[in-house]
Parts: sequence; C-alpha cells; structure tokens
Amino acid sequence: MYQVIQFKTPSILFGMDTLSQIGPEAKKLGAGRALLVTGPRVKAAGLAEKAVSSLKAESIAVEVAVEERDTPEPATTVVEEVAEIARKGQFDVIIGLGGGSILDVAKMASALLTNPGKTRDYFGKEKVPKRGKPTIIVPTTSGTGAEVTKHAIFLDRESNVKKAVASTNLLPDVAIVDPMLTVSCPPRVTASAGIDAFLHAAEPFLSKNANPITDAMALEAVSITSRWLGPAVADGQDLDARYYMSLGSVMSGIVLNNSGTSLVHAMAYPVGGEYHTPHGVTLSALVIACFRYIMVAKQRKMVRLAQAMGENVEELSPREASNRALDAIRHLIQSVGLPVSLRELNIQDTSKIPRWAVEAHKEQRLLSRSPRILSVEDIQKIYEDAF
Ligand SMILES: [Fe+2]
Repeated sequence: MYQVIQFKTPSILFGMDTLSQIGPEAKKLGAGRALLVTGPRVKAAGLAEKAVSSLKAESIAVEVAVEERDTPEPATTVVEEVAEIARKGQFDVIIGLGGGSILDVAKMASALLTNPGKTRDYFGKEKVPKRGKPTIIVPTTSGTGAEVTKHAIFLDRESNVKKAVASTNLLPDVAIVDPMLTVSCPPRVTASAGIDAFLHAAEPFLSKNANPITDAMALEAVSITSRWLGPAVADGQDLDARYYMSLGSVMSGIVLNNSGTSLVHAMAYPVGGEYHTPHGVTLSALVIACFRYIMVAKQRKMVRLAQAMGENVEELSPREASNRALDAIRHLIQSVGLPVSLRELNIQDTSKIPRWAVEAHKEQRLLSRSPRILSVEDIQKIYEDAF
C-alpha cells in the first residue's frame, strides 16, 4: 500500500539560551507590537524580562499579560480575556511563554483575533477557518509539545470535560525551545510532563496513523526521554538531562502533531476533567491498561519500543518482548514517582466508569487512530483494569 503522508512543523529554534533570540525572530515575523502571555511563576523567575529585553532591542513594543490562574486546564473564558487585551492593544504578534496551559491560551487567543466567536465554537477537528496573528511559542516545561502542535486543550466548564481545538491554523509560526528555561521546573512537574512527552512518541508510534517519518522520530524520542527523564527529575540542575528532555519533547511533539495520540489520551480526558489531576499523571495511571489491551494488534512495534527503551530482547519471543516493553514503561513511570493505576492516583470510586467510558468513546478524533477497534464496553473494561 502506498501511504499518503503530510508532514507539518513550525519553524523551530532549539538550543541553550535561544530565548535571547526571540527579538530577531519576532522581527522576522514583522512584529511592531508584541503581546507576551505568561504565568506568575515564569514571570517571578525573570524569564519574561529576558524575552522583553530581547524584543525591545529590536524596537518592538511589548506588553506582558500575566495569567494568574495558571491551572492544569485553563477555562475558555481566559482565552477570550487575553484575546480582548490583544485586540485593544492592536498587537501583531502573540507570544506564549510558559507551561502547556499558557501556550494553549496564547495559541487560541491569536486565532480569535482573526476568527469570529469564542473558543467553544472551535472544539473539534479543523474548525478554525483562518490562521490567527503570528505566534511565537516558548515552553518552560519539557512535555506538552504545544510549541509544535495544532492542538489547544481547555476545560469546558459546562460538561466538566477537557476538550480540544485541533486545527492546522493553530500551528505556531515559530517554536523557541530553550532547555535553560526548564531548569527551575519542579521534580513532580518534570516527571508528569516527561511522561506526557514519552507518550507523545510511544502512543502515535502504535497508532494507525503512524508513518515512517514519524516512526523514526518517535523511536529516537522514546529512547531519549526514557533515558533522561530519571536524571532530570532527580536533579533539575543537570543540564545534560534538561537538554535531552527538551530535545525529546520537541521531537515527540512533532510526532504527536503529525500522527496523533489515541486511546490513552482519550481515556485521560474524562478523568482529568473530573479530578483535575495533571495531564501526565493521569496518562501514567492509564497507559499500562491501555497498551496491554491494544498490543495484540501491534506486537512487532512493541518489540521496537522495548529496544528503543534499552531492553535486551534478542532472546525473547515477540510476545515476551512486548511484555518487556510494558514492564519497561511501568518501571519508567514508577521510577519518577508517578502512579501506574487509578487506585495509586487515589481514585477509589469505580461508579464513574460507565460515564467515563461513554465520554471517552465520544473522542472519535483520537479513537479512530487506535490499532484495535474499541466499543464503550471495551473502554469500560480497560478503565476497570486500570484500577
Ligand atoms: Fe499529552
């Protein structure tokens, strides 16, 4: 079969101290006035100031909007507020500097400057008709991949479910990935974001949407993140670990953008929406049960995952090697102190499973990529297994 492949990525500037290049990058986009959206912790760490001085050196007027409600899942109202600030100030470039939530807010606010209506009008696949104002997206954690993806995730307060805007028009213009910005990221956030990064490579690798370009990148990203996450969590000042986790994260973000996540992410949405658990932590609690269920369809790829994670599988049968991959993932998650089951996540109440299964099953945008076809009952079983 001859596969059709489309590959999309923003312009990427990766490396130590690349934040200092934000001024010249904004200039290339034609910026006269830039709005920099950031969070309180990032501002307190002095990172916004560094960006501002680089922008000012290029004679770009800049205003900093600090989004105080820096929660794991921003409400859509925050986007509308930021868009209003941007509209009033007539900014021509929108910069997001922060964790995944801030970056999603910046991306979506930019889209609302050229498209009518509100965020909730654009939930779903390819619903944003026009590109927004140019964006520069700068992550301060290694994991979400938001700097290179077309996605923005928000909490829909009406249904209390996390929902995604997935539109090519949301793809940032420029991603600046500076590992130095992640040095102050606390261990628990490093761990959660790091598992997210690992899964943005591993999950698309097993999906129906995988292709040879993303597979090559996914295996390298799996190898890098599984090797360096432990050291990055153990010592945030370990610059080698921060450098490679940033690299692995941007690579897995590209994989995510071009091949997409599937079952684990679909099942995490209702749980995260209900318990407000950090995204990577929720994924950790579900991934073993999910992969155990789908791996029958992707045994050879599970073997390659095990190899990429440094497991010696030469003497093993494909079935044994697949199980070895599962063991390696479990070990990786446990080694950074995250839960491998919903019970370990302190969720005791199993009565919500039927509703979660229905909610997760609605995520056909993600589930259509699953290598194993899933009914509501199948998903229910996987949730039960995840307890
Ligand atoms: Fe994710």
